[in-house]
Amino acid sequence: MVYIGTPTSRVDGPAKVTGAAKYAGDAAASGLAYGAVVTSAIPKGRIATIDTGAALRVAGVLDVLTHENRPRMARRAAAYKDDVGPEQGSPFRPLYDDTIMFSGQPIALVLAEEWEIARFAASLVRVEYEAEPFATDLRVERERAVAVDEPPKPRGNADKAYAAAAIRHEAEYFIPIEHHNPMELYASTALWEDGKLTIYDKTQGVLNVHNYLCSVFDMKPDKLRVLSPFMGGGFGSGLRPQYEAPLAVLAARALERSVRLVLTRQQMYALCYRPATIERLALGAAPGGTLDSVSHEAIAVTSQYEDYFRNDTGWSGLLYKSPNAKYVHRLARVDLPTPSDMRAPGATTGVYGLECAMDELAVALKIDPIALRLRCYSDRDQHDDIPYTSKQLRKCYRQGAAAFGWDRRNPKPRSMRDGSELVGWGMATGVWEALQMDTALRIVLTANGHAEVSCAFSDIGTGTYTIVAQVAADLLGLPLEAVTVRLGDSTLPQAPVEGGSWTAASVSHAIAKTADEIRKELWRLAKAMPNSPLGACRLEDIALADGRIIDKTDSGRGVAMTDAMRHGRRDRLEHETTNSFAEDDKHARNTHSAIFAEVKVDEELGVIRVTRVVNAVAAGRILNTKTARSQIMGGVVGGIGMALHEETLIDHTLGRMMNANIAEYHVPVNADVHDIEVIFVDEPDELVNPLGIKGVGEIGIVGTAAAIANAVYHATGKRVRDLPITLDKLLG
Ligand code: MOS
Repeated sequence: MVYIGTPTSRVDGPAKVTGAAKYAGDAAASGLAYGAVVTSAIPKGRIATIDTGAALRVAGVLDVLTHENRPRMARRAAAYKDDVGPEQGSPFRPLYDDTIMFSGQPIALVLAEEWEIARFAASLVRVEYEAEPFATDLRVERERAVAVDEPPKPRGNADKAYAAAAIRHEAEYFIPIEHHNPMELYASTALWEDGKLTIYDKTQGVLNVHNYLCSVFDMKPDKLRVLSPFMGGGFGSGLRPQYEAPLAVLAARALERSVRLVLTRQQMYALCYRPATIERLALGAAPGGTLDSVSHEAIAVTSQYEDYFRNDTGWSGLLYKSPNAKYVHRLARVDLPTPSDMRAPGATTGVYGLECAMDELAVALKIDPIALRLRCYSDRDQHDDIPYTSKQLRKCYRQGAAAFGWDRRNPKPRSMRDGSELVGWGMATGVWEALQMDTALRIVLTANGHAEVSCAFSDIGTGTYTIVAQVAADLLGLPLEAVTVRLGDSTLPQAPVEGGSWTAASVSHAIAKTADEIRKELWRLAKAMPNSPLGACRLEDIALADGRIIDKTDSGRGVAMTDAMRHGRRDRLEHETTNSFAEDDKHARNTHSAIFAEVKVDEELGVIRVTRVVNAVAAGRILNTKTARSQIMGGVVGGIGMALHEETLIDHTLGRMMNANIAEYHVPVNADVHDIEVIFVDEPDELVNPLGIKGVGEIGIVGTAAAIANAVYHATGKRVRDLPITLDKLLG
């Protein structure tokens, strides 16, 4: 392998920095009309009247679409539920009827010759509402929260064991609503051509959007093409089809014209968010530091129209050995849009609670936090009592602690200082799934020794183009420059949404399977050449390397691929295969990490800085140590934001998000991000999949906020359980 495992710069980097890469909102087209969305000012009720007269009188305005005059659209998709939508409920459809379900809901779409005209005219749409009482506060609505029936199965009797435990810790940890805030705005450019539509949409799944639109608008699949070749970040916000895509279709159909619709940053806050969640943990332990009992209850918000939830609680009984465990997940309905997956959904919130609780338990037990975790270490999946395909978490603790200098930690809170600042060191464990999905992929090898690899997967900005090029170059025996990658197009071979950290494993094995078909065909062509040096070779001895078809047992023996194709009069070899993974319910598949954080806290002002983070990750084979490191760093920065900055504030008297912009919704900036060290521990794994790939898209954020919260406690002696940890909570 020449490229797999090496630090490789992004193959799409030059296109991005030169502006050649076109995003959904800048797809080139002539004769575009522009849309601007009008949103609801109230969270619940109905539209009594909507007056579009003043808007329509503005010169350059083409039409104003509302629920009263929009083209036809189905409430329920006939045969299709979007790939990652909640099981229960009825998905939101923009401009469907007069019902208002959340503040910021799109209620009209103004279409004009220019974007500025559309936005101005949108300000002239007058709406009268019949308002109804509403609720948006989880801390109030928790009283009415209802249990969902899907948490992992309990074991033993957790309540009894907890009551009998020598050392007990019980507490609630709170995570507020957080927003994804990718840099790129949500946008759709819908190109109209005689009833056919080509849509450039911001999405993590072109096929998901394609199937959704075909179903909701009853369109023939070949009348619609969805593209998302580049994406300026997603973090999960683009897993489900968002409302800009159906609005763009409605507009193009109404006008029979191409339309561009770009949402504003403020409007994006009503698309989706990480649900506000209360994590209630109860841990019972023996004095030596072994767990007797784990109870984890999560209470989270969902909308009035869908039941959104993920696995928050199950990590607790999975990660640590405990004979007794139980889980409850409850949902509180609020008048907000449906929450959605946001980087490591469920684990980011659930493991935050667990890992803070473990830190508090370590304090109560007077045991080092790593030592506690090692005493509860589990080599088997605790839910199903099965082994992992691999689990090198011990190495993460060891190598992370060594790099951080953990052995120099004085366990006493407020014992370490740097001038006027208190110094705190904290740690936490991270865990995520190593998922993999069926994926189709096509390779076309042309007689000039060039390969085109295509697949419908998206690259949400994290490096899919690059790893596809690396893996294909290695498996086809070509230089990286000889491989072109096409992604993000619904006409390409089928792939699921890019999410769940499953893309690297899924696409790599699709490449491996397809490249093998190319290898077989090249072998047949090479054997057929006159006086072929490979005439007597068996297929299993044939490899592709350096542009040649070679005998692995004697690499001097071989022929150039281009010669073999020329002799066989073939100007192109084309193969498309679908890779499926073998069923394996005998093993658990997870990635793990150990995160160490240093904070410095100004003793007088309570200002917190995260001065160092070491994140040691066990995620199988790392395809690209450069982009993978960036993934983990990005996850850590997300964790810093979660710990210290991020919080969507709702005025519960208005039912409205008040800081729906990136000036007032705080994310970490350069000055907040200091030294981040990423370690990939060696984790060979022949069971998870043939190439041993587990994925790194999400593990970087899991546990990070807990490590920082634990460090803040160690620095100050004050335990703040409600995120974000702002200085008022520290001083108060
Ligand atoms: Mo990720 S939350 O699966 O984009």
